[in-house]
Amino acid sequence: MVQQSHTDTVREKANIDFPPYIQHQRLREWVAEMVALCKPDNVHWCDGSQEEYDDLCNLLVENGTFIKLNENLRPNSFLARSDPSDVARMEDRTFICSLSRTEAGPTNNWVEPREMHRTLDVLFDGCMRGRTMYIIPFSMGPLGSHISYIGVELSDSAYVAVNMRIMTRMGRPVYDVLGEDGPFVPCVHSVGMPLAPGQADIPWPSNPNNRYIVHFPEERGIWSYGSGYGGNALLGKKCFALRIASNIAHDEGWLAEHMALVGVEAPDGEKTYVAAAFPSACGKTNFAMLIPPAGFEGWKVTTVGDDIAWIKLGEDGQLHAINPEAGFFGVAPGTNFKTNPNAMETIRQNTIFTNVALTPEGDVWWEGMTDTPPANLIDWQGQPWTPDSGRKSSHPNARFTAPASQCPSIDPEWENPEGVPIKAFIFGGRRSSVAPLVFQAFNWAYGVYFAATMGSEMTAAAAGKIGEVRRDPFAMLPFCGYHMASYFNHWLQFGRYVPNPPRIFLVNWFRKDENGKFLWPGFGDNMRVLQWIVSRARTRAAGLETPLGRTPLYEDLNWEGLEGYTKQDFNRAMNIDKELWKNEILSHEELFIKLYDRLPKEMVAVRELLLSSLWGEPEWLDRYE
Ligand code: GTP
Ligand code: SPV
Ligand code: MN
Repeated sequence: MVQQSHTDTVREKANIDFPPYIQHQRLREWVAEMVALCKPDNVHWCDGSQEEYDDLCNLLVENGTFIKLNENLRPNSFLARSDPSDVARMEDRTFICSLSRTEAGPTNNWVEPREMHRTLDVLFDGCMRGRTMYIIPFSMGPLGSHISYIGVELSDSAYVAVNMRIMTRMGRPVYDVLGEDGPFVPCVHSVGMPLAPGQADIPWPSNPNNRYIVHFPEERGIWSYGSGYGGNALLGKKCFALRIASNIAHDEGWLAEHMALVGVEAPDGEKTYVAAAFPSACGKTNFAMLIPPAGFEGWKVTTVGDDIAWIKLGEDGQLHAINPEAGFFGVAPGTNFKTNPNAMETIRQNTIFTNVALTPEGDVWWEGMTDTPPANLIDWQGQPWTPDSGRKSSHPNARFTAPASQCPSIDPEWENPEGVPIKAFIFGGRRSSVAPLVFQAFNWAYGVYFAATMGSEMTAAAAGKIGEVRRDPFAMLPFCGYHMASYFNHWLQFGRYVPNPPRIFLVNWFRKDENGKFLWPGFGDNMRVLQWIVSRARTRAAGLETPLGRTPLYEDLNWEGLEGYTKQDFNRAMNIDKELWKNEILSHEELFIKLYDRLPKEMVAVRELLLSSLWGEPEWLDRYE
């Protein structure tokens, strides 16, 4: 990772006492520059110890950022309430500042890097006055593994420091790996609210008027200002492991993806790993922790990761995937002992909750946690709440931060530095119509086409129009750090060098009938589809050929244990409507026109083949009547 500053000014350097174990000259210089720029009152070198974590949590309690939860009900756990304006990722304030505008592509916000550096230099000048700068060394991926990458985040938020300790391998051992000249990604973060002498702090400092989440792909550097929430502030996650890493992966020939990693163990012990890309708040965590329903005795699903996968081609010709994270930053609302028991077990202790409701007993609650809401709560904004108050008690994007190691379904190989072998890719948007429950793309190029043209209804995970269908290619729209069409090309090219590439499947758990009721039970019952996927990923079997790809018939799935779900219900979830699909292809065209300058020709070729098969009266038309 090169580190060249594109600023015009020669930076001041502060005089600081470096801990003797930091021998990395470039790191020392960068920290000295950033301290001189941000002017914090104190500097805290995070060592990652439990003692430090406890101290910081106590400090957060004293400052009013954290509420300690009842030690008997939720040991060593805390609740944070954010500013109401700081509750999700802000895509319109996220920038990819590549040297050229073309490189960022039409789906990213771009500002010329020197200009952005000038803006940031003004914003960051003195931004940490009255605060402590936490120096947070972290590894994405197991410490010291050849596939891992190191970052150092400088942040004036203790909330960020404690979250980073859960989400990454954070602490002093990182410096040993870094040595005197190892590469690291420099990440600077400020809540953007300096304190004047004597000015009291507030529980959730941030800067509603000035928010920037900025990436410099060529420098491999990240700057974030004005927000303390999730992916805006925990810079190892979306900023590094996806936006910067997608650039590194493009240069080096691997994949950095917004995917859950899941192991499927058959009763005979045979294990298959799959990678699943669903957009934000569209079911990756639930899928990664799936518990097979009745009728699947002897089947087991294990969790490697729930959000991000780094995937490389091994010398054995297989794709090897690692989860670069160490924790889950999962959506709380809707999570309960029926939809996701493994998540409920994971968050029993040592968990940070953000923007959920507080019970009178000092525990947490959110919409969907139990069938009957408690009679009295304090809502996510600190106001008294009752079931008839007409508001949600938790923010729809309320989240928990919990160590992956606490997950009962965690895969024994989850920290294997060689990763796990991937046999299938699954892509799925949130579509109340059009997209069928499942199909298998005919081949890699078709798979890339459908992943590239994936549509999904927007969720609360990002500020925007909730429910509106947008193209979210590969579930990477907010996370691809370069031109989206070059990214399609990268996938096509990558596939050409995999001897027997994983099969590609498309799913949609979210199709609804005319009354708005889901046409598919979802959650644990997704196992029925997953079993079909796994069996097809392992064989060369044919299937029903539809224009989209190969599909299961009712008879091809295991229905044991699912009462009252009829063949007709299934057929409605599977139906492919010719006319709706012609319209759908028209909206693919919108994306293609946007990406015209770099669109791979395969996209146009597959679209033509797809259109051509939507004519006539072939067998598939009435198989799902
Ligand atoms: P990010 O962490 O934002 O990247 O998202 P994620 O993909 O991990 O999202 P998560 O699993 O937390 O999705 C949560 C939402 O999806 C909740 O609203 C769930 O109710 C819903 N959900 C998850 N799985 C299913 C399913 O199989 N069927 C239906 N209908 N809803 C589901
Ligand atoms: C997402 O929005 O896809 C997330 C949550 O995983 S955040 O880390 O806040 O981006
Ligand atoms: Mn995500």
